[in-house]
Amino acid sequence: NWTPNSFVASTVADLKNKLGDDKVVLGLSGGVDSTVAGVLLHKAIGDNLTCIFVDNGLLRKNEYQNVLDSYEHMGLNVIGVDAKKDFLDELAGVSDPETKRKIIGRVFIEVFDREAQKIQNVKWLAQGTIYPDVIESVSVNGPSATIKSHHNVGGLPEKMDLKVVEPLNLLFKDEVRRVGKAMGISPALLGRHPFPGPGLAIRILGDITEEKVEILQEVDHIFIQGLKDNDLYDEVWQAGVMLLPVQSVGVMGDERTYEKVVALRAVSSTDGMTADWVHLPYDFLAKVSNDIINKVKGVNRVVYDISSKPPATIEWE
Ligand code: XMP
Repeated sequence: NWTPNSFVASTVADLKNKLGDDKVVLGLSGGVDSTVAGVLLHKAIGDNLTCIFVDNGLLRKNEYQNVLDSYEHMGLNVIGVDAKKDFLDELAGVSDPETKRKIIGRVFIEVFDREAQKIQNVKWLAQGTIYPDVIESVSVNGPSATIKSHHNVGGLPEKMDLKVVEPLNLLFKDEVRRVGKAMGISPALLGRHPFPGPGLAIRILGDITEEKVEILQEVDHIFIQGLKDNDLYDEVWQAGVMLLPVQSVGVMGDERTYEKVVALRAVSSTDGMTADWVHLPYDFLAKVSNDIINKVKGVNRVVYDISSKPPATIEWE
């Protein structure tokens, strides 16, 4: 008879038993899974858990500081690492989506490894892997064709020679949320939309520059904040914005402009495998579009993605 509380009680007991006085390291992403894993492990072993939260420079606007603050507020022993430059330098000039993902996966491991080495006597690597990740990584790495290489699973342990502990690997997402709620994690954090590991890198089509990241962060912030302010955020499973590699002609006063185009995307889904585009109210779209064009320099056109998955994927690359 599974309940979130019984899961917490038995898992904390198991973790205490398994880990004893060992030191454990965990990478936090700001997402639900790693956060719930972190809080659960912290309950079991306290400050023997060190969490590492990496700023890859591809997070949402203010995300790094906000998330770091909330982790500290929850009492987690967390090290924030500003690695923006490492990532952006390696990504310079790269346009191919899978190459971007590989670079980000590799640099993440390097940065994480570097920080983890600083922790004395660390024996375990904890991961927020959930059951669908386990299934998916089998199919992604297995004989069937690679669709997109998600870098959330695998990779880290081989290099670091650590034992792996994955306290959520039998849970589905909704169970993870219920467990998080039972442990007092804020609904705002638990209700966050999924966000891809490679972050804004795969929403900037074509090559990535700091300037493009900043533009996309501003646009994304207007869209997401707009959804929240209009009570639409929870109606949507995932939302985000793509910065397109085309420029379009516009007019401003007497002048012709030749500037960037962004595509807004909002989908409903249960697991991301299939998704429908959300029929956001026209008035809302009109307001967001105006705000974006008026406030974000360098963008003169906003379009809304009305494709469902399949055949269109949620991300554009
Ligand atoms: P697609 O675009 O394949 O996305 O329909 C399905 C879900 O997966 C997320 N996604 C990723 N997550 N690393 C991740 O951690 C990735 O490389 C990646 N690519 C897509 C996407 O945001 C959506 O939730």
